[in-house]
Amino acid sequence: RYRDTTAEEKMNPFAEQEAWEEHQIGKATLKYGSKNKKQTSDDYQFVFEDQIDFIKASVMDGDNVDYEEMEDSLEKSKAKSALEALLEERKKLPIYPYRDELLKAVDEHQVLVIVGETGSGKTTQIPQYLHEAGYTKRGMIACTQPRRVAAMSVAARVSQEMGVKLGHEVGYSIRFEDCTSEKTIVKYMTDGMLLREFLGEPDLASYSVVMVDEAHERTLSTDILFGLVKDISRFRPDLKLLISSATLDAEKFSDYFDSAPIFKIPGRRYPVEINFTKAPEADYLDAAIVTSLQIHVTQPPGDILVFLTGQEEIETAEEILKHRTRGLGTKIAELMICPIYANLPTELQAKIFEPTPEGARKVVLATNIAETSLTIDGIKYVIDPGFCKMKSYNPRTGMESLLITPISKASAMQRAGRSGRTGPGKCFRLYTAYNFHNDLDDNTVPEIQRTNLANVVLMLKSLGIHDLLHFDFMDPPPAEALLKALELLFALSALNKLGELTKVGRRMAEFPLDPMLSKMIVASEKYQCSEDIISIAAMLSVGNSIFYRPKDKQVHADNARLNFHTGNVGDHIALLKVYSSWKETNYSTQWCYENYIQVRSMKRARDIRDQLAGLLERVEIELTSNSSDVDGIKKSITSGFFPHSARLQKNGSYRTVKHPQTVHIHPSSGLAQVLPRWVVYHELVLTTKEYMRQITELKPDWLVEIAPHYYQLKDVEDSVSKKMPRGEGRA
Ligand code: CDP
Ligand code: MG
Repeated sequence: RYRDTTAEEKMNPFAEQEAWEEHQIGKATLKYGSKNKKQTSDDYQFVFEDQIDFIKASVMDGDNVDYEEMEDSLEKSKAKSALEALLEERKKLPIYPYRDELLKAVDEHQVLVIVGETGSGKTTQIPQYLHEAGYTKRGMIACTQPRRVAAMSVAARVSQEMGVKLGHEVGYSIRFEDCTSEKTIVKYMTDGMLLREFLGEPDLASYSVVMVDEAHERTLSTDILFGLVKDISRFRPDLKLLISSATLDAEKFSDYFDSAPIFKIPGRRYPVEINFTKAPEADYLDAAIVTSLQIHVTQPPGDILVFLTGQEEIETAEEILKHRTRGLGTKIAELMICPIYANLPTELQAKIFEPTPEGARKVVLATNIAETSLTIDGIKYVIDPGFCKMKSYNPRTGMESLLITPISKASAMQRAGRSGRTGPGKCFRLYTAYNFHNDLDDNTVPEIQRTNLANVVLMLKSLGIHDLLHFDFMDPPPAEALLKALELLFALSALNKLGELTKVGRRMAEFPLDPMLSKMIVASEKYQCSEDIISIAAMLSVGNSIFYRPKDKQVHADNARLNFHTGNVGDHIALLKVYSSWKETNYSTQWCYENYIQVRSMKRARDIRDQLAGLLERVEIELTSNSSDVDGIKKSITSGFFPHSARLQKNGSYRTVKHPQTVHIHPSSGLAQVLPRWVVYHELVLTTKEYMRQITELKPDWLVEIAPHYYQLKDVEDSVSKKMPRGEGRA
């Protein structure tokens, strides 16, 4: 039942970028009252447009109207009515009647656990209440989110509600994007960013309140934050700590925080009828599509929410649904298909929030995003196939993969609950009641127990926390995974034999990147190619969204891509070539179109690169370029990625050198047809096979030269060439 999958969703920084652009449009809409209504509340939009017509009419009548002054006062009255409308909305939220009680509880206790269903107003309202009660006079309010999209969209919403410009009093901070200023008093941020702030300010002195939101998601960063904020709360009695969660595991949080009181916000929940299938479904995607159509044809009005595992699945479902609804004929009402996943362009994302037109029905095809991070009004039916994509980690091999995995009972409950927000709902589970009771775990395993910990260990070491085995974890990670992380950091020379941070390690910790990438950057000093290496690091950080391949132009797109691979330079150098060529055209958009390159991703890479350049300065590494010395660049890459080395086998597959495992070159690699004898890879992805993605050829003696403590000569003896009969060598 575990189907293989790609790592498409692992990292998709540019979706967030787009969301940001959307807010800009949203604000522009508000300002100029364009016809683009979807971004803002219709109520005040209309008032504004009427007024504009009125002004224009008066001007045309020849009245002596000062157009600018009118616009100005109009601006103000419009903003005022917008604020009033939003205030009305705020008052309708389930949390509103408990405002004073909540403030009293915060006043009386240093640590408070807050529980309330998704949509009750925790994230948007609590920081505002605290601000209104004067907490921001003593310092900022931080509110952490596990998802970058959520941090941005919530900050945008709250800045609207407070009638301030996003980035001024209300801002957000996510990796590679800081939208805050001197004025900022309410700061939404990813949990990972608050973690990084400890590096510069170990007591979080600039904050008066820290709200660890969506605590039930138990991301790695949230779990580490728990330990750190618990620690500082002991010597900062003035710091208020709020732990908020959408689920009922509040006791666990309370226990951890020395029996902190629990504040429950009563939800408004309607009954949800749960249906199971009688027999297990062989193909849940098809079952989900059939069920959607059945609901559409037989059930009373109300929108449908289908939980799928990722972009590909959603796109497939969308295509099939479109095809099949066409076959239904004109007697059946329209079915609007709305996909939502993090990588979806924002204009399309907004569609799921638009009210469904009269007589039509909406079907939202969503990833886990819709489980708690995002609230869609009007959902009456939920279809739950019972799967999600989840990261898993093998501490023995150090390999991480994203797998389609059965969800937990807790997730299933959350999903079902999404149908009963505004009225009674129905949930269709595409698995049997037996499966539910016997096969699903009660709770999702916290990320800390199924991920690579190298990053976190490096951070904790930089914070001076040495005894990791006795760190106050809510749920400890497997000791094996901790050891593996220490081992890797030692191999990268970030730690010495005693487990202490080295100068290299201290420099590495400055970069908000995986340790292997940070090491690659720090090592570029030696090979005098830091300029080139940060371009490569930035391009790698953007993920796999640089090249695009439209269905009708695949050959053209592939040819364009191969242009950057001339000379079989390998994928890293190809990425560098893409970046440099784009820079040479003065960052031309046209050039991107011509070369089948996503301009958005490139802009994002440029942004990231700028920040990496700033960090280089901070760790006092000079910006030097040496693009003619390709070997120097490759050695820098190897300095970070030597644990990811693999050797060609006789049958054309590869074998990883350190923990032998069979792997293959990803078909998208420029070296897929070349099959060099020795390679380093950026990452492994499991689809139909275990694939290496982003590959560069290396010389085996580099491994011994660069990592003598990790590889011995016998590891890199070129046995393939020795044993292989003449004429069969492929490299
Ligand atoms: O955190 P919690 O799930 O309790 O609720 P919230 O995120 O504060 O959302 C409260 C309400 O604010 C939602 O029901 C939405 O109507 C609205 N909201 C919004 O319009 N846009 C956002 N980006 C976030 C929330
Ligand atoms: Mg929330």
